[in-house]
Amino acid sequence: MPAPTGAEPRWAAAQVAQRVLDQGQASDAAMEVVCQGLTRGQDRALARRLVHGLMRDWPMVSGLLKALLQTPLKRRDRGVYFILCIGLSELRAEREPDHAAVNAAVEATKLAKAKHMSKLVNAVLRRFLREREALEADQADALTVQWGHPAWFIQALQHDWPEDWQRILGAGNVSPPLTLRVNRRHWSRDDALSALTQHGLEAHPIPGLADAVELERRVAIRDIPEFSTGGWSVQDASAQWAVDWLQLTPGLRVLDACAGPGGKAAHALERADIELHAVDSDGERLARVETGLARLGLSAQLIHADATSVASWWDGGLFDRVLLDAPCSATGVIRRHPDIRWLRQAGDLSNLVATQRALLDALWPLVKPGGILVYVTCSVLADENDRQMASFVERHSDGSILQSPPTPTAPGRAVSPGWQVLPGEGGWDGFYFAAVERV
Ligand SMILES: C[S@@+](CC[C@H](N)C(=O)[O-])C[C@H]1O[C@@H](n2cnc3c(N)ncnc32)[C@H](O)[C@@H]1O
Repeated sequence: MPAPTGAEPRWAAAQVAQRVLDQGQASDAAMEVVCQGLTRGQDRALARRLVHGLMRDWPMVSGLLKALLQTPLKRRDRGVYFILCIGLSELRAEREPDHAAVNAAVEATKLAKAKHMSKLVNAVLRRFLREREALEADQADALTVQWGHPAWFIQALQHDWPEDWQRILGAGNVSPPLTLRVNRRHWSRDDALSALTQHGLEAHPIPGLADAVELERRVAIRDIPEFSTGGWSVQDASAQWAVDWLQLTPGLRVLDACAGPGGKAAHALERADIELHAVDSDGERLARVETGLARLGLSAQLIHADATSVASWWDGGLFDRVLLDAPCSATGVIRRHPDIRWLRQAGDLSNLVATQRALLDALWPLVKPGGILVYVTCSVLADENDRQMASFVERHSDGSILQSPPTPTAPGRAVSPGWQVLPGEGGWDGFYFAAVERV
């Protein structure tokens, strides 16, 4: 068998990038389709790293390519265009020797059935290496290039976070840690940590979170002991904190109104013997709740419905707790999904805010007097977070915001109303939380 040239993962990465940037597909979904042909785990990991690298460097790379190509490539040559993008981003990241990255990109043109363009790919990448300093300097002034995020998002952050916008953008360009949740119905966190140590995996508990463990370095899930038998789930620290906001005790009737794919639903069931009703409007995501709960030995009443159409699914019983983990811009988890910054458009925000508001208003009457609604997003934008909840409590005089967070030592800050964790703070994802009691 001939030695691998590295062309396969580069070509796969180029195709995924094209699906994300030209067609608006999520990179995880595109990766699943495109990377089916990559049999080696290391090739899949490389393709993923290359795609993520390009997502973080897209404004610079697209600017460089504009300068390097004397005439723009034709529409039918988009595959080659993205091979060049991946190649430039890889050369800029400087993880591979230059000649290896250039050769792999040139070889990738054959897989793209564009061997006739291999000379062009070679020439463009080599010219970049010769003229790198001047070419990069020409692009460097733009904020989009400096931070690798779209202009609308930079402006929104400058408005909402005048002191912190640079820190938020910087955090979006750093890979997150691998954080696990111990299934406390399966074993204790101490036992789970010992099992990791026995397998040579270094990890530490996350302060303030009873079930969270952070690995010192990322590993494949299959290498984590007792993962398949339900000992663990992958879940970021901020997402794990949501269950503390619910203040669960045995016997409570709980609604998870936007449950798919089920991370917080499973955590709630691991925490306490509750009666959980899990709603999602997306059948596929609800199916993932079912599979996830089965792996962990848990169960809930699953309801496939639009939560705002209460009459179509509600049995009439009030809930002690309602968790609304609302659909949102996901701008707090860009470090985890670097494609989000290009998939979201400024215009998406008003629809998301309207959906969140409709969900809040529809679900509020389902909360028992004395019960609590917890509103959570993985967004850093005030329109979806504190502004949304300020407007909610103005509309609902029987809603009283709970002022203190359930864990005083958690990262983040009080906002008005609620609590905001910015991405990377304490190593956590960017999330917003607010708890409202029905008085
Ligand atoms: C942020 S995700 C929830 C994540 C989930 N709580 C977890 O921890 O795994 C938002 C979910 O809301 C669902 N959704 C969006 N609009 C909805 C609606 N009107 N009714 C019910 N579910 C909805 C989406 O399908 C998506 O699964």
